Amino acid sequence: MPPNIGVQLTTRCNLNCTHCSVQSAANDIPVGIIRDIVSYAQSINCRCLELTGGEPTLHPRFPEILAALCRHGLKFTLVTNGWNFAEVYSTISRHRANVNRVAFSLDGATEQRHDMARGRGAYRKVLQAVSICRSLGIRFGLRTTVTPGNIRQLEQIVLLGAKLGADELAVMPLMPTPRMAELDLLLHPRDLTRIMAEAGRLQKIFTIKITLTAGYPERTSRPPCPALNGSYLFVTARGKVSFCCHLANYVGGNNDADIVADLSQLSLPEAHRRMLAAVDEFNRAKSLRLANGSFTSLDHCPCWYCLKCFRKVEWLADFSDSPWSMDLQASRGVNASRTRERNRASLAGDEDRGKSPATKRFRQHPDVIETALDGEGAALMHTGTKLPFHLNATALRIWRLLKPGCTREELAQALYDEFDIDREKVREDLSAFLDELSASDLIVAA
Ligand SMILES: C[S@@+](CC[C@H](N)C(=O)[O-])C[C@H]1O[C@@H](n2cnc3c(N)ncnc32)[C@H](O)[C@@H]1O
Ligand code: SF4
Ligand code: SF4
Repeated sequence: MPPNIGVQLTTRCNLNCTHCSVQSAANDIPVGIIRDIVSYAQSINCRCLELTGGEPTLHPRFPEILAALCRHGLKFTLVTNGWNFAEVYSTISRHRANVNRVAFSLDGATEQRHDMARGRGAYRKVLQAVSICRSLGIRFGLRTTVTPGNIRQLEQIVLLGAKLGADELAVMPLMPTPRMAELDLLLHPRDLTRIMAEAGRLQKIFTIKITLTAGYPERTSRPPCPALNGSYLFVTARGKVSFCCHLANYVGGNNDADIVADLSQLSLPEAHRRMLAAVDEFNRAKSLRLANGSFTSLDHCPCWYCLKCFRKVEWLADFSDSPWSMDLQASRGVNASRTRERNRASLAGDEDRGKSPATKRFRQHPDVIETALDGEGAALMHTGTKLPFHLNATALRIWRLLKPGCTREELAQALYDEFDIDREKVREDLSAFLDELSASDLIVAA
């Protein structure tokens, strides 16, 4: 499969978004490197480049770069904050046939919420940019970085995207940054499961395509993203090949551990070979860790695992209360078993750190309406989230036990007593079921 190629045109930016993970600086990719990328893309049959930044439209030779790509028949996806779209649209429109998609970042369903993350006036600029795309028939999508500030607006954001006519909404979970940690605005690991459940629910309602990017917990062995299946190549504004766009120029990271090759010293084909070798080595080491039991539960969140491996989040040591920081310590072998236990609780939504997961009590959420179905389990409806949920007969039995409130151990004991089942298996299934109920807001800590 030909790889997708991502290019960070510049690390300059006209905004200063609260959540941004890119260290802002005045690096612009040399046009000579763009030419090399274009001819290499053609030689490997890659048809589309993803242009990002910083703010890619701020590259001083942006029109020339687009012209170079299009002259050689390449398409492009442009990831932009939309701020200066009214100035650059004519350049883009000239190459309309080569636009795969313009992806506007939208970090809130309301002006207030989006501008709080991105600065005053940013929301109106996105709406203006969208109106231009609609008028000129330029295909566009939206990208939302989910933070504690907008996590409750997901439904409104999807609705807004559908109304605007976006062809896709990509939903990316916040990657930790020092600024967000200082503001106490990091996502909690359990939020990742919630976002997945919410996106799944919304996808059943809306026809707009909702894409979850990498970063959410994965339990399968398949590679979680194009970079890790060897089908992605990313070139930074400093003319280097990075292991992944999410790791390049990572704020607070202060290292080049993600850099695979410097294009001032190596040709692009050679750099690409190095990248594939680096991916192989990374995947091998990861499988080994998983097999020998040194995976923490948060290691199942692939981008988080990468951030740790490439030493981008060492600064989290200063935020010892954060579950991410505890996980970092676990990976270094500090207090590992205790931290692993706490992490398991983190993904399951255990907010009460004073109690161990074994003694923690769960009970039914008071806003859930239950309808017993004749011989078919029961139907649940949470009046707040409006999320329907079906329980089969066994799940209904557990649900009933949760009415007065009980611990995992009490639930597990009741199930051994009633059914003839394997003890370990019952513990595992019960944990997964409680996580699912918790992520859907159907149970609360008693
Ligand atoms: C780095 S920006 C570059 C393109 C352009 N400046 C923009 O904002 O769309 C690309 C995407 O990364 C997202 N992003 C930035 N920091 C992030 C973080 N800490 N976690 C997750 N996504 C982040 C942005 O919201 C944006 O959608
Ligand atoms: S998210 Fe995009 S617009 Fe915001 S500061 Fe970062 S690079 Fe700039
Ligand atoms: S940070 Fe790692 S898991 Fe996330 S997209 Fe990049 S390579 Fe994939």
